[in-house]
Amino acid sequence: MDSFSGKLAVVTGGGSGMGRELVRQLAAQECSVASCDLNADAVAVTAATAWAAAPPGVVVTSHACDVADEAQVLRFRDELLEQHATDHVDLVFSNAGIGGGESFINSPREVWERTFAVDWWGVYYCTRAFLPLLIASGDGILVNTSSVNGFWAALGPGVPNSAYSTAKFAVKGFTEALIEDLRANAPQVRVAVVMPGHVGTDIIANSLRARGLPAPEEMSDDQVAELIPRDAQAGLIRAGVLAEGASADDLRQLLVRGNADFRDKAPVSAAEAATVILDGVRSGAWRILIGEDARKLDAAVRAKPEHAYDYAELFSGLAQEPAAGTPER
Ligand SMILES: NC(=O)c1ccc[n+]([C@@H]2O[C@H](COP(=O)([O-])OP(=O)(O)OC[C@H]3O[C@@H](n4cnc5c(N)ncnc54)[C@H](O)[C@@H]3O)[C@@H](O)[C@H]2O)c1
Repeated sequence: MDSFSGKLAVVTGGGSGMGRELVRQLAAQECSVASCDLNADAVAVTAATAWAAAPPGVVVTSHACDVADEAQVLRFRDELLEQHATDHVDLVFSNAGIGGGESFINSPREVWERTFAVDWWGVYYCTRAFLPLLIASGDGILVNTSSVNGFWAALGPGVPNSAYSTAKFAVKGFTEALIEDLRANAPQVRVAVVMPGHVGTDIIANSLRARGLPAPEEMSDDQVAELIPRDAQAGLIRAGVLAEGASADDLRQLLVRGNADFRDKAPVSAAEAATVILDGVRSGAWRILIGEDARKLDAAVRAKPEHAYDYAELFSGLAQEPAAGTPER
């Protein structure tokens, strides 16, 4: 597929970040898009602005859908087939994702399981729902978003990322397993797995929002204390990120700064990341790493697998270490 012109793409999580930029760039390249999000208002804005700027003939629709709920994914599928008056789709970008459940030991079980459900079952249900439609296309591409946490299951010293890494490893393994399966059983479809490093998006605030929490600046003292419990505070103090005796307001400001810095100080923007994904898909790549940090980490883990969690050894020789304390990858 060397052009997206005249195709129909499905993008999950189109309300923000890389999903929103994928919708915009696909529509600008004459590709119709059906995009869903948990946040129906946000994806409606994405669709309206992308459609308004798109060339004639392109149709961009938005849909409310929780990808962790199979019945909603099937409703999304049926809705888009009707609205786009089609019986197939050409591209599926399973991009929706959240962070949370950092510690298997300390994080609330329901947060761990919700993160796993969105990041793994969301990809699985979308593949179940859309693979027959990609096969029907005759030239389909499935693009699943994993992460550097799909091949490296931590964020650095004292910073686990348990539920997210478990799900992202599953997404990577599932997508790789589909390569031979499709070759043997449905050669008209190919797959790609996307592994971004740090990309500047609002994923921290969006992940909290998806848990029913307000924006960090609007959180109550109790909400802040529940989000950063004492053991996590101790870790942050040890890492030099938080001062001894920090108040609830200090913790709130840490969250506000953390989200803003994650978005604004990233080495790669969401728009740049979407361009890398689309270039990779067009070129026929099956593994799409985003950012120099992702490429270096991939090389380091492959070169020294036994030292993957011996950080000093793993990062020796790397110009830029991934920042400990970065909440999502
Ligand atoms: N930003 C990064 O540094 C980074 C790094 C590696 C991987 N990723 C992955 O890239 C993908 C996109 O992340 P982003 O950074 O653009 O985040 P984002 O928060 O900007 O966008 C994700 C979108 O997914 C939506 N979403 C969340 N849960 C959903 C659900 N259950 N059903 C439907 N939609 C849902 C959110 O509302 C949001 O609009 C995610 O899978 C994420 O894990 C991001």
